[in-house]
Amino acid sequence: MSEAISINQQAVDGIVEEALATIASAHDLATLKGLRARIVGDQSAIASLNAKLRDLPGDQKASAGAIIGKARGELNAAYAARESELFAVEERAKLAAEAVDVTAAASPARIGARHPLSLLMDQISDIFVGMGWEIAEGPEIENEWFNFDALNFDADHPARAMQDTFFVEPADAHLVLRTHTSPVQVRSMLDRELPVYVLCPGRVFRTDELDATHTPVFHQVEGLAVDKGLTMADLKGTLEHFARVMFGPEARIRLRPSFFPFTEPSAELDVWHPGAKGGARWVEWGGCGMVNPNVLRAAGIDPEVYSGFAFGMGIERTLMFRNDVKDMHDMVEADIRFSEQFGVTL
Ligand code: PHE
Repeated sequence: MSEAISINQQAVDGIVEEALATIASAHDLATLKGLRARIVGDQSAIASLNAKLRDLPGDQKASAGAIIGKARGELNAAYAARESELFAVEERAKLAAEAVDVTAAASPARIGARHPLSLLMDQISDIFVGMGWEIAEGPEIENEWFNFDALNFDADHPARAMQDTFFVEPADAHLVLRTHTSPVQVRSMLDRELPVYVLCPGRVFRTDELDATHTPVFHQVEGLAVDKGLTMADLKGTLEHFARVMFGPEARIRLRPSFFPFTEPSAELDVWHPGAKGGARWVEWGGCGMVNPNVLRAAGIDPEVYSGFAFGMGIERTLMFRNDVKDMHDMVEADIRFSEQFGVTL
């Protein structure tokens, strides 16, 4: 005996109503998909009703089948409609979240600026590299021998005194913070094949207090040429070219007799600075001279065969008169606004 089954419009309407309510209760795609089996799938009320069709008496099968079929069609359509509705909502939210406002102002990122002292040293290096010279570097903590002895400084030369030179402890190690870039001259002559044409930019140290025109750490650029037959005329021609590239075609140089232990003869170098604020004028720029034969000998070079010239100048001083910088403090305080004035060259 099969139990009495009734499949009528009213019962099917009840099932459809409940399933439509379930569809409406799903507010996102994932939930809707999770409910699919219970709405239109194997576990749905309409599917189990459908399964019972086969137990119906033959004469009721057709009409009951039609009712159920119509209801299933309705539910499938409702499910599909809700699915595409929720898909559209989620798609819109996703696009909104990923939207890029191409008209929005970019947040300003400061790219920084190179320090004018570095720029100036690079510029000077380029001038000499352009003439075929090489760049040489040496240590900032230097042997006293390279800083003084090999450069022909007497044992009692005043520059060796405590008030000028930073000595590095222990004293018997004979190390100093180099007081000039000239020790690189000696290192270059010892390390390189002759002839030598080197430019040595670098940091140097003297026991000065920081004020408007002094700083205990500053920079120099040193030039050294050692070759057969070099004369004072080569020194002058080189410096003249250097001055013109740095300060313009009207720049001139002038040499005044002076003294350095490592050059003979020695000269102070002045430059005629055409672009000076307040009018063209002579400015003291550096020191120079013909390499002292004693220095060539200390580096194992025969002064009867080779001769050399050398020059050296302060980078801070050059920047001060070239760019009218009045206070040394501006160069050491690391305020980006100071560097930016010289252009953000990379
Ligand atoms: N080294 C010297 C100084 O510091 C400058 C100089 C370099 C002079 C080379 C002559 C030759 O004052």
